[in-house]
Amino acid sequence: MTSIALPTAVLLLVGGAVAVQSIGPAAAAETTLRAAAAQAGLFFGVAASPGRLSSIVGQEFNQLTPENDMKPSTIATSTGGLQNTGNADTLVNYAQTNNMLVRGHTMVWHSQAGALQGANQATLNTFIGNALNRWGNRIAYWDVVNEALDDNNTGRRRTQWPHSLNRDANGDGDFFDAGDTDVIRDSFIRAKQVVQAGGLTTKLCINDYDVEGLTVQGGTQNRKANALYDIVRNYRQYIDCVGFQAHFNDNPNSIITNDLQANIQRFADLGVEVHITELDIDDDLSNNDIGAGQAENYRKVVRACLNVAKCTGITVWGISDSESWRSSERGLLFTGSNGNYQKKAAYTAVLDELNKGRVPINPTSPNTPSSPSVSPTVSPTVSPTPSTGCTATVSLDSWTGGFVATVTVTAGTAPINGWNVLLTLPSGSTVTNSWNATRGGNSGAVQFSNLSYNGRVNTGQSTQFGFQGTGTATGLTPVCTAS
Ligand code: XIL
Repeated sequence: MTSIALPTAVLLLVGGAVAVQSIGPAAAAETTLRAAAAQAGLFFGVAASPGRLSSIVGQEFNQLTPENDMKPSTIATSTGGLQNTGNADTLVNYAQTNNMLVRGHTMVWHSQAGALQGANQATLNTFIGNALNRWGNRIAYWDVVNEALDDNNTGRRRTQWPHSLNRDANGDGDFFDAGDTDVIRDSFIRAKQVVQAGGLTTKLCINDYDVEGLTVQGGTQNRKANALYDIVRNYRQYIDCVGFQAHFNDNPNSIITNDLQANIQRFADLGVEVHITELDIDDDLSNNDIGAGQAENYRKVVRACLNVAKCTGITVWGISDSESWRSSERGLLFTGSNGNYQKKAAYTAVLDELNKGRVPINPTSPNTPSSPSVSPTVSPTVSPTPSTGCTATVSLDSWTGGFVATVTVTAGTAPINGWNVLLTLPSGSTVTNSWNATRGGNSGAVQFSNLSYNGRVNTGQSTQFGFQGTGTATGLTPVCTAS
């Protein structure tokens, strides 16, 4: 009898557990950032130094970036050799022991260049090879090039070393031509060669700041982001990942915008992984155009990443406010110091948002359909006569060869329960991706309709959808029909 009773009890237990799960949430809420992130399929990391390796690092984070200890100012010799790698080794060992990924940071950078300052490409290449081979696959991601682009939204490269190595041979204003010299291209080519020769799995990233939104404050297009996009598009064969530093502060180019997700998406659509690499958010973002409140701002950034499958990791730039490089902005997830840390509201918001996973649980949250249905021919079913029920306006961010359009649908004098927007793209232009709408067609006349969660719009209120395309999209005249 005993030999029968035991399996029966086990079966009952299994059955009971299954029944409980089927009426509960899809997945249990995790209680650490790393567990919640892992459940959602991304890493959640932190920048650290050997002096900051308190137990919280391994408990809360599953990715580590050396805040300063892998910079050329610490580890490079003037001939591209390595020195003083002890702190970097400590961090890599700690990460390995605690099952954390490592991001190497950083190789080619105008700042903190140390003995490498002023080096030629050959010496940079020597350093790139030495750094990659020193840690091999123990480093999952390396920032090969950091902060290559100019400040103040010019959309241009920096001009100081190492970018002073650049030559625009045909004078056409870019460094992409075969005859040009480009330190970005040449550094990535070298890095890719080393990875391939060594059979490494290390992924090669380009990292920058003020590249987070499609726009900057006031709706001006983000030329710095567009320039980064052009670089990644041109050098896609050598570049595996893009880092948005995401040091959000009151600088008009450093704010959190509503189009952060669309910008992450357009890079992801190039096939690269996107990471938020150095996140901190000033707790007094008075210029922030999508609302104040540090915890809510953290939530928005995490949600934007979660909504794009190829946004595969978020790293905060330190543990605690007082130990941050920008301590006066109180931009991190913990207060306290020396291992005695307290969670802030921002921590709780991040954990909560991570626990919701990649698909928003709230059906009114924006969503990015992963594979929108596209019909090969267009048969518009709506009248092109403008309706009094709704109006639609388009705001456009364009770069060479591509664009992202954000369409705002506004209800008229009565609430609407659904909408259709018809617009005609210039010939030669093609929609490659859209979000917050269903779509019919991808060129010529293209029709967009509401999804279940954004069809109802109250009197005078608005909702937005967007799409990305190749070619141009100037002069669009959308026609909105309410249903
Ligand atoms: C910062 C460190 O946090 C500071 O400790 C150091 O004094 C200066 O550099 N962009 C980067 C990081 O890529 O390497 C910088 O880190 C912050 C801005």
